[in-house]
Amino acid sequence: MSSAAAARVRLVEIGKRYSGTTALDNVSVVVAGGTVHGLVGANGAGKSTLGKIIGGVIRPDDGQLFVDDRQVRYTSPREARIDGIATISQELSPMPHMSVIESVYFGIEPRRFGLVQWRQMRRQYEKLISLWGFELDGNAKVGMLRTADKQKTEILRAVAADARVIVMDEPTSSLTSVETKTLHRMIRTLREGGRTIVYVSHFLDEVLELADTVTVLRSGHLVRTAPVAEETEESLVAGMFGAAAAAEHFEKPRNLTTPVVLDVSGLHRKGVLRDISLQIRSGEIVGLAGLVGSGRSELARAISGADPIDGGTIAVDGTARAIRSPADAMAAGMAFVPESRKDDGLFLELSVAANTTFADLRSVASRLGILRLALERAKTSSLLKLLSVEPPVPSMKTANLSGGNQQKLMFARWMLRGPRVLILDEPTRGVDVAARAAIHRLINNLAAEGSAVLLISSEIEEVLGLAHRVLVMRRGSITREFGADPPLDAVMEAAFGLGGRTIE
Ligand SMILES: Nc1ncnc2c1ncn2[C@@H]1O[C@H](COP(=O)(O)OP(=O)(O)OP(=O)(O)O)[C@@H](O)[C@H]1O
Ligand SMILES: [Mg+2]
Repeated sequence: MSSAAAARVRLVEIGKRYSGTTALDNVSVVVAGGTVHGLVGANGAGKSTLGKIIGGVIRPDDGQLFVDDRQVRYTSPREARIDGIATISQELSPMPHMSVIESVYFGIEPRRFGLVQWRQMRRQYEKLISLWGFELDGNAKVGMLRTADKQKTEILRAVAADARVIVMDEPTSSLTSVETKTLHRMIRTLREGGRTIVYVSHFLDEVLELADTVTVLRSGHLVRTAPVAEETEESLVAGMFGAAAAAEHFEKPRNLTTPVVLDVSGLHRKGVLRDISLQIRSGEIVGLAGLVGSGRSELARAISGADPIDGGTIAVDGTARAIRSPADAMAAGMAFVPESRKDDGLFLELSVAANTTFADLRSVASRLGILRLALERAKTSSLLKLLSVEPPVPSMKTANLSGGNQQKLMFARWMLRGPRVLILDEPTRGVDVAARAAIHRLINNLAAEGSAVLLISSEIEEVLGLAHRVLVMRRGSITREFGADPPLDAVMEAAFGLGGRTIE
């Protein structure tokens, strides 16, 4: 199949409506064969919907889809996959009980006399990952993987199927910069091999660097399709929002003398975290930098009771707390926005209101008994507005919000509580530039009001932009500490374990 001519995808006057929402209206786009076609737009603009239509996940209400000059009417992703079209979805939903290898070759397993050839499949897998420079244990259960590794599994699924067209819906949202570079190299290689790539991303710099052509969507409408050479970040933002959304610079307090709010000492988790001590003062934002796997998320999970610990103490406002569950952490005044909204975060089947109001459904119900609904509702709708959740309809089912809007929701629900300690793991993943700025302002305001903030982000610029102090983690330990606005390369070197003095 690798010698086949590059496939061109043509969308003609596509429309898709949901009750109350027009996800796409009269959108026509030509994706030239053998190119990388960027797709950008604000949260809820219709990007994923367009990608899902190409990939056979959903069917359009109006319009036609052509692959080369053949009209296609896929009724399932499987049909599209057989026709050479693979989708890497934003929501990452491979079968959790499968191993990585099974998931990568699902539906295209090498068979002999009808029997799956496991050894051959394993060999193919090993070849595949070494070809693409990925490190990923093929035997791991997909459901147990961290988000970045789930994303890698999905990418491998697409390349293993030798797809002619690959739709990538925010493939780098939870990858580190190194992994993103690897992916970009893969994408370029795929393009050279005649594959056609549709690349959805909120990282406009990535789109400009990688894509040949870019399509801008706004509120379900086509704004334009243009060669990237004619676009800049500013022009794309203007197309997405109608006006430029300026990036903000935050003043960072030096020499904070406010009381220590979070005091972690000698925290230990066997094989994961080694003797972690850190203090965060009232009003302080501490950023955690480090590579994926360095223990940042694990630290956040251990402090917030999501994972058990084997030793160490945690105090909040000077009082030692035994934190054995998320409910304990909440009772101690901590709020935790975890990395994966789908697995740990949102109740997708419940309404937007329920997800925003209930910080933790079970513990709120059992501990407080009575919910102060009216008050919280009022606060909820003002937060939905502040974060520009679209549509701002509290009764809507959460699963029907676009990915970025789900992420905003996850954030909104903790904002209701004005926590003493706010722990954020990738708070702006998949969020558009305007909402990102709103979330950054919120984080900054919460700190100004006295919260102690621990911030984790794979986007090093985000950490540096907000943090008053930066701690670098490596192999489960804190190895380096910087003050406000450290040089980017010094932080990166520390993350890779190069140069500089380390604190032991
Ligand atoms: N199953 C559904 N039911 C109702 N509305 C839906 C459904 N799926 C999507 N929508 C709505 O369609 C619009 C477009 O959603 P889509 O997921 O395509 O946005 P997006 O551009 O991918 O956004 P994001 O950047 O946040 O991922 C949104 O307003 C969304 O709420
Ligand atoms: Mg989307």
